[in-house]
Amino acid sequence: MKAAYIQKTGPADSIQFGDLPTPQPTGTEVRVRVTQVAVNPIDTYIRAGTIPMPIPLPYILGCDLAGVVDAVGPQATRFAVGDRVWGTNQGLLGRQGTFAEYAVVDDDWLYPITNDVSDEQAAAAALVGITAHLGLVRDAKLQPGEILFINGGTGGVGSMVVQMAKALGATVITTAGSDAKVARCRELGADLAINYKTEDVAQQVLKFAPGGVNVFWETLREPDFDRTVSLLAERGRMILMAGRDARPPFPVGPFYLKGCTLHGFVMFKATAAEQRSCAEDLNRWLSSGQIRVPIGERMPLSQAAAAHQLQEENTVGKQGTLSGKIVLAV
Ligand SMILES: NC(=O)c1ccc[n+]([C@@H]2O[C@H](COP(=O)([O-])OP(=O)(O)OC[C@H]3O[C@@H](n4cnc5c(N)ncnc54)[C@H](OP(=O)(O)O)[C@@H]3O)[C@@H](O)[C@H]2O)c1
Repeated sequence: MKAAYIQKTGPADSIQFGDLPTPQPTGTEVRVRVTQVAVNPIDTYIRAGTIPMPIPLPYILGCDLAGVVDAVGPQATRFAVGDRVWGTNQGLLGRQGTFAEYAVVDDDWLYPITNDVSDEQAAAAALVGITAHLGLVRDAKLQPGEILFINGGTGGVGSMVVQMAKALGATVITTAGSDAKVARCRELGADLAINYKTEDVAQQVLKFAPGGVNVFWETLREPDFDRTVSLLAERGRMILMAGRDARPPFPVGPFYLKGCTLHGFVMFKATAAEQRSCAEDLNRWLSSGQIRVPIGERMPLSQAAAAHQLQEENTVGKQGTLSGKIVLAV
C-alpha cells in the first residue's frame, strides 16, 4: 500500500511517500480502506521528535482517519465489512498512524459515519472534536447560559470549541488574528469575536462580560495567567492543553480567592469509553449541521510533507496563513 511515513524523526522533508506492506487485522482490530486523513499539530511534534512518544519504525504518520471497513479481525464485533467509519487516537503511544491506504485500528477507537456526513468532514472533526468535547463536557462541565472564552476561534481546536459551546447553550467570546478570520468566527456562531492584533482583548471581554467568563479555554502555547485569572468569573474554570515547556508566573491569591479551578489534559490519554461518548455527540452535531469543520487546505496524501510544513508554520511559526483544517485525500 502507499503510505506517508518516516524512518527516523526529523524535519518535514524527512517524510517519505512510498510502498509499505498492507497490514492484516488480528483480534479486535479492523482494517480500514482510508479515504481521508487530517493533520494535527501533534503529528508534527511526533515527526520532529520534539515530544517523547514511542514510535514503531517505519512510522506511518497521522492520528485521524475516515474510510470504509475492508476486513475484520476474528474478535472484532463493532463493525462489518463495508461500514463507513472515522477515528482518531492512532499514531500515538506506540500505535501506527493513519496516513496510508489501509490502517489497522482496534474497533474500540472507531465510530460510524452517518449517511449525511462526508468522509472529509468526519476526518477533519476527529481529534479536534474529541478534544473540544473532553474539555467542555468532562472537564469544564460547561452549562447552558454560561460564558466561554477561547483564543483562536478559527483554529483547529478553536473552531470546534466555538461551535460545540454554542451547541451546548453557552455564550461564546473568541479571538482571531485578522478581520477576515474575525468574520469567520462570527459565521461559526461566536457572540463576540475580537481581533487580537488590533484590539485590547481584555478590555473587550470585560465590556461584554463585566462579571468575567465562566470558562477560559487557552489554546496558546504561552498562557498568560495574570490576564486569564483577571478575566475569570467567581468559580471560573480554566482549560490548559498546550505549551509543554511554558513556565509562566501564576497569580495564586486572585485564583483561589475567586474559587477558580484549572484543568489540564491530553486527549490521547482519555479512555476509549470517554472518547466514544464524545464521538456520539459529535456524530449527532455533524449530522444536524450544528458543527461544520472549516477546511483550510486540501491536498493528496503524496503531499504529506508540504502539509506538515504548513501546519508547523502556523501552529509553531504563527504565520497566520491557515484558516481551518488541512485534509489529505488518500
Ligand atoms: N492537549 C490536547 O489534547 C490537544 C489536542 C489538540 C491540540 N492541542 C494543542 O493545542 C494547540 C492548538 O491546536 P490547534 O490544532 O487548534 O492549532 P491551530 O489550528 O494551529 O490553531 C492555533 C490558533 O491559535 C491562534 N493564535 C495564535 N497566536 C495567538 C494570539 N497571540 N492570541 C490569540 N490567538 C492566537 C491562531 O489564530 P490566528 O490564525 O487567527 O492567528 C489559531 O487559531 C496546539 O499547540 C496543539 O498541539 C492539544
